[in-house]
Amino acid sequence: MIKSIVVYPICMTLLPQDKNGCPYLQLAPMEGVGDRSFRKAMASIGGFDEAVRDFLRVPANAHIKSLAKVYVADELAPIPLAAQIMGSDPDLMAEMAQELAQKGAPRIDVNCGCPSNTVTGRGAGSSLLKDPKILHEVAEAVVRAVTIPVTIKMRSGYEDISLFEENILAAQESGVRYITLHPRTKVDGYGPPARWDLIARAKSLLRIPLVGNGDILTVNDAMTMLRTTGCDGLMIGRGSIINPFIFYQIRACYSQVPYELKWGNLLGFFDAFIAETPEDFSTKLRVNKLKQLLGFIFKGNAQLMEKRQLVLSASHKDPQTFLEFVLPLLKESWNSQVGV
Ligand SMILES: Cc1cc2nc3c(=O)[nH]c(=O)nc-3n(C[C@H](O)[C@H](O)[C@H](O)COP(=O)(O)O)c2cc1C
Repeated sequence: MIKSIVVYPICMTLLPQDKNGCPYLQLAPMEGVGDRSFRKAMASIGGFDEAVRDFLRVPANAHIKSLAKVYVADELAPIPLAAQIMGSDPDLMAEMAQELAQKGAPRIDVNCGCPSNTVTGRGAGSSLLKDPKILHEVAEAVVRAVTIPVTIKMRSGYEDISLFEENILAAQESGVRYITLHPRTKVDGYGPPARWDLIARAKSLLRIPLVGNGDILTVNDAMTMLRTTGCDGLMIGRGSIINPFIFYQIRACYSQVPYELKWGNLLGFFDAFIAETPEDFSTKLRVNKLKQLLGFIFKGNAQLMEKRQLVLSASHKDPQTFLEFVLPLLKESWNSQVGV
């Protein structure tokens, strides 16, 4: 097995940067959309330093070993894949972290952001933001259980931001290596714009590194977040579905060497996506997965948006013929993007 490791600087207040000074770039966890096939497709392009797998639930009465089975540490090797866990029982969370560390996880991320009612109803995900003491207790139990880095990914609050500062300080005091902040509350869902001012606020309060996340859809957004918040790294979710080249394009801002967009790389992205769709999926489900992906891509591009409905309502027998129908549409907008 090729083991993926994350080499963090010895100084605890820093995150790695590339040789040109580009901050640490991460592919966000996105349950349902950003699954293994999407991660593999993204890895076929590359440009990000690390990916975070979507959450593994740790419910009461969890059978840890069988729940941990779906995590495959070398899935994207040599790109490290962090494991994210979500639960509220400190002992079970600690046990799960140990199991994942044994499976080769380079880092454990504690989910303090998932807004789903089935999750929050059990006191996990964003519910941990209701009480900084519990958040601290859960995170500290995980930190103590393993020798690999533990981090927290959190929203800015549950209903409001009244506990924002207490929560980020509780996270820091628990001993986590760094925090990733998606500055929306649970109640916000994905509605109002992410409050980047809260990333700047958190940065001014923390001594550990901070990764900024939320609404980075373009390279310009990425550079603006870095400049206006002072955050130490970026995590990108939906922006990477819309533009899988975004990580390389951000790097190019630091290397001063323009990133050359290649149509063949986009074809490779779709090929990897189709090839990695689970074999036990029916053909219809495989087409639907591709549609879900294309729905994001078309939504993120004004030129493609008007054709989105046509694509989503098209019926094709298998992913390959569906893709053959869609590629000419993509190519048109691609040509105007790269100036052909
Ligand atoms: C479909 C979907 C699934 C998500 N699943 C997770 C998850 O499993 N764990 C997590 O911490 N965040 C999850 N998120 C939140 C994202 O990681 C990220 O914080 C959020 O989308 C904001 O970043 P973005 O604007 O770059 O997408 C999910 C988001 C979406 C859209």
